[in-house]
Amino acid sequence: MKKLSKEEIGKLGIYEFQAYIGAMTSPTFGGWKGTDTLIELLKIKEIEKPKILDVGCSTGYITRYIASKFDCEIIGIDLGDLVIEIAREEAHKSNLTNVTFQIANVESLPFPDNSFDIVYGEAITALVPNPIKVLNEYLRVLKPNGKIATLDLFMNESLSDEFMEETNEIMSNVIGTQIKIRNFQEWEQILNESGFNDIKLLDYYDDLFKRAYSFGKLVKIIFKMLYHMIVNKEIRHKLSPTLKFARKFQKVLKGDNFGYFIFTGLK
Ligand SMILES: C[S@@+](CC[C@H](N)C(=O)[O-])C[C@H]1O[C@@H](n2cnc3c(N)ncnc32)[C@H](O)[C@@H]1O
Repeated sequence: MKKLSKEEIGKLGIYEFQAYIGAMTSPTFGGWKGTDTLIELLKIKEIEKPKILDVGCSTGYITRYIASKFDCEIIGIDLGDLVIEIAREEAHKSNLTNVTFQIANVESLPFPDNSFDIVYGEAITALVPNPIKVLNEYLRVLKPNGKIATLDLFMNESLSDEFMEETNEIMSNVIGTQIKIRNFQEWEQILNESGFNDIKLLDYYDDLFKRAYSFGKLVKIIFKMLYHMIVNKEIRHKLSPTLKFARKFQKVLKGDNFGYFIFTGLK
């Protein structure tokens, strides 16, 4: 990845900035355990050389993980050009030949109808302004009988209005567009009406916000983040609200107030 100027770094979105400082290297919600659970539910081995689409792949760590485990052809897509550049470099370093990456918007997928055996997405479907539109896109690009597999964030319905409002504000700031974090019941309704068959929806709570960094790596990431916050006003303005929010709601964020759901179904 090429080194960016201070001005270019200041223009990065929060997810791209995290990728730039080496913080986007493991699953966002539920850690690798969540990924393994979802992969197991999919029974990928039962499909002969499946064609898989990984939506919102970031720097491609989950895409490469699936590519290295299964005889499949997998495409990772994401909005950000920096994350796709990193994803391609890392796939090249790992000598993986069954994985490709492209810049694309999940709201309007650049693939014909009936293209994929599996559409896979972690931490993306609940983080878009219009999940119903996105679910329709998954359905469109899946082959008949193709499988959908998503893992995403929900929050407890009994939380205070103040907390819910601030959470939605902060998550919208991180994502860079207005979104709403829904509760499990709301997802149940959306997914039951999504047009998929044989739906399974499960809720999980453990290791929700736990990223798989070694101690040394965590220190490096924190150092880089603080450095850029000190020298770069733009970055400081982008990250400060999230850090203030995390401090203010420390206790609420640690409880069972959030969880992640795993959703599978068939076209
Ligand atoms: C929370 S990260 C998830 C990354 C990875 N899937 C994981 O679980 O760790 C969300 C990713 O989705 C991407 N994204 C957000 N909106 C998108 C959209 N409309 N189309 C494609 N990617 C999008 C962001 O750029 C970001 O890399």
